[in-house]
Amino acid sequence: MLDALKEAKDEDFKILKIIELSMRNHEWVPLDEIIRKAKMPEKDVLYRLKRLNKFGFVVRSTYGYAVSMGGYDALAINALYKKGIIKAIGNKLGVGKEGDVYNVLLNDDRIAVLKFHKHGRTCFTRGKRYRDYIADKHHISWLYASRLAAEREFNILNDLYPLIKVPEPIAWNRHAIVMGKVEGEELKRVDLSEILSKEEIEKLFWDIIEEVKKAYKIGYIHGDLSEFNIIFNGEDFVIIDWPQAIPKYHSEALLYLKRDVENVIRYFKKYKINKDPDEILKYILKSDKDEDKDKV
Ligand SMILES: Nc1ncnc2c1ncn2[C@@H]1O[C@H](COP(=O)(O)OP(=O)(O)O)[C@@H](O)[C@H]1O
Ligand SMILES: [Mg+2]
Repeated sequence: MLDALKEAKDEDFKILKIIELSMRNHEWVPLDEIIRKAKMPEKDVLYRLKRLNKFGFVVRSTYGYAVSMGGYDALAINALYKKGIIKAIGNKLGVGKEGDVYNVLLNDDRIAVLKFHKHGRTCFTRGKRYRDYIADKHHISWLYASRLAAEREFNILNDLYPLIKVPEPIAWNRHAIVMGKVEGEELKRVDLSEILSKEEIEKLFWDIIEEVKKAYKIGYIHGDLSEFNIIFNGEDFVIIDWPQAIPKYHSEALLYLKRDVENVIRYFKKYKINKDPDEILKYILKSDKDEDKDKV
């Protein structure tokens, strides 16, 4: 996708954007509609479509054309580039359950990361062709679901940053979000007993709970909190991966909060830090209520 991106021209993106927009009304965008909207001679449109197909940015069927996942990625990167937010895209950081994360260079020369939301990819079996996948209606909603997830994560980070230890939100476009790069390792991959004393490990536990409490006070429960979504650099940590965060007034908010707390407790248990989930939960909730009462 990155090599193709370098080769793609504005005219290629123009046609790709027409297909993207028309996908609101079509599963497959008919060729004559693309020609009509492009206001270009048919042979030029066909030339662009051939290139887009070669890049893997579109898929074809007998009914017409659709944007592929790679094409959607390219549209997002191109837009962020044109808006003057990023000036280069680097290597892939890690492949998570739901998205791909890349290093990017911002226009102001800071290093940041770009995360693509790819919802529903887990049910995408390897080897199954995009062509087959895109043919079912699910794929169309996948475009919108991914875009919504990116927008959601960006808005949540905006609400939380910098009060809570989360990545700095920088920009979003389509299913992509640009955020500050966090240095360190997922807590899952760190052996805390090698670098911290028992007291320091206990302090780290309470610092994490404090962030959970503050985020709850602002109005969010992470909803997928675990050692996989906490990045630790030996001294401090950042909590990542917020698209699924639950508003605290959600009817099942407490269930999610409890699950998050239990995950943190379970992780620290192997360092012989034993905490009672109900006590910790009470601590998070009690202080929230009391402080609200103080304000009245
Ligand atoms: N802001 C960031 N800075 C550094 N690394 C990140 C950042 N965001 C994500 N990552 C890396 O990418 C991985 C996947 O990102 P994450 O937001 O957890 O999405 P998911 O788990 O849904 O794929 C993380 O586990 C982490 O290693
Ligand atoms: Mg994650």
